[in-house]
Amino acid sequence: MQRSPPSPSLITQRDHFGGGSLSSDTSKFHKSKKSAAVLKHAIINSYATPFGSKTGSTSKNNRVSFIDGYAGPGRYEDGSEGSGAMLLRKAKELAAMSRPRKVELHFVEDDEETVAKLRAVVEAEAEDVEYTITDGDISKHLPVLLDAVKDIPVFVYLDPCGLPIPLEEVAAIFDRPSGPGTSATEVLINLTASLRRFAGMLYSDKAVENSLKKLDAVCGGAWWRAAWLEKCPTKDASEDQKMAAELAVVEGYADKLRENAGALGTWIIDVRPRAGLKPLYYLVFATRSIHGMVTFGECASKGLEHWRKYHAEVAAEDDLFGSAADWEEAWRAEEKKLSAQWVDTLADRITGELAKGHAFKIIDRSEQILGDDLVGLVRTMHFRAAINKVLAAGKTTTDPKGVADVYNLLITPA
Ligand SMILES: C[S@@+](CC[C@H](N)C(=O)[O-])C[C@H]1O[C@@H](n2cnc3c(N)ncnc32)[C@H](O)[C@@H]1O
Repeated sequence: MQRSPPSPSLITQRDHFGGGSLSSDTSKFHKSKKSAAVLKHAIINSYATPFGSKTGSTSKNNRVSFIDGYAGPGRYEDGSEGSGAMLLRKAKELAAMSRPRKVELHFVEDDEETVAKLRAVVEAEAEDVEYTITDGDISKHLPVLLDAVKDIPVFVYLDPCGLPIPLEEVAAIFDRPSGPGTSATEVLINLTASLRRFAGMLYSDKAVENSLKKLDAVCGGAWWRAAWLEKCPTKDASEDQKMAAELAVVEGYADKLRENAGALGTWIIDVRPRAGLKPLYYLVFATRSIHGMVTFGECASKGLEHWRKYHAEVAAEDDLFGSAADWEEAWRAEEKKLSAQWVDTLADRITGELAKGHAFKIIDRSEQILGDDLVGLVRTMHFRAAINKVLAAGKTTTDPKGVADVYNLLITPA
């Protein structure tokens, strides 16, 4: 498994925990914000602003674009924000900055009833935000939209209820100039755990080749079949084996996307109802920018914190014995404990690396420092606290005070 944070050499990251149940029945899904959506929306909520602000600081006329390829209705029936309303709010916030960014939103939705709801939400809330709404299949319309935003930064969000568009179409998003002075290109894809349903067909005697070919296209080839069977050779495999097989396919997907797209890095976030339960879906993020990798990692960590808070509240509401009143305090105490554990673990690992006698940067030792357990969970504040702890213990001379990019800070043995 490749993991760890942003460095040109490392690249795929994964982290733990996620949100509730995602239904493939879209009518049910759109009634209220299911907990499965809480994490992905928390990540978009915290990432859209730095993406727009940073990439729009040097773009043509400060223009920035978002393409929401499987847009949904914009808001749930209970009024809470879907990706549509959230991106509109972000666009308005970015336009109100002291150095305004001009955000263009492009929504695609192929269900007639849903697109009508989306249109009503966008028309009511867009104010001065520029937008397009396309009623149709994202596969067909994506190339046209990419052409419309070819000179400006683009963030593409692909959030289907089932399988997403083929990998070659996702990789084609990156068919734009790259390198210094060119516009940012980033993609966030929701790979649903319906991988399992398709993989189950690998053991079937019936003619299911056409269904398997659908997943071949999504994965950019039939390679996933061998990857799955290696971890899960028989139909009676254990839950752990199935989870390992699923992860192997998602990691293979991220690797392939990175290769085909010439992306610098990918993050994989697995979204689980609770630690220890199987993922409901995986979010795969791809970028060509080291800044994008670092910032997305920070936002994923914040999104997970939001997710834990959401679940603490839901658990308290479900508790018949009325623990609801002090759930926030209990959650805060739990977070403090978690954070202290993470900082201790990071400090031990940093000390271990320093004991090898050489200065190093976290970005170059991501696997050693993050291990299997902390990928995506920790962020700058935890690294900073850990380095401070190591400094106080006299094991380093490096003081992280005032350093914004701790990933690239050279940590020197004392
Ligand atoms: C999971 S929902 C979207 C949720 C929304 N992105 C959010 O975050 O709030 C997926 C949506 O994609 C739409 N859809 C499914 N296949 C599509 C396709 N090929 N092209 C465009 N939209 C599609 C469905 O009708 C559904 O409304």
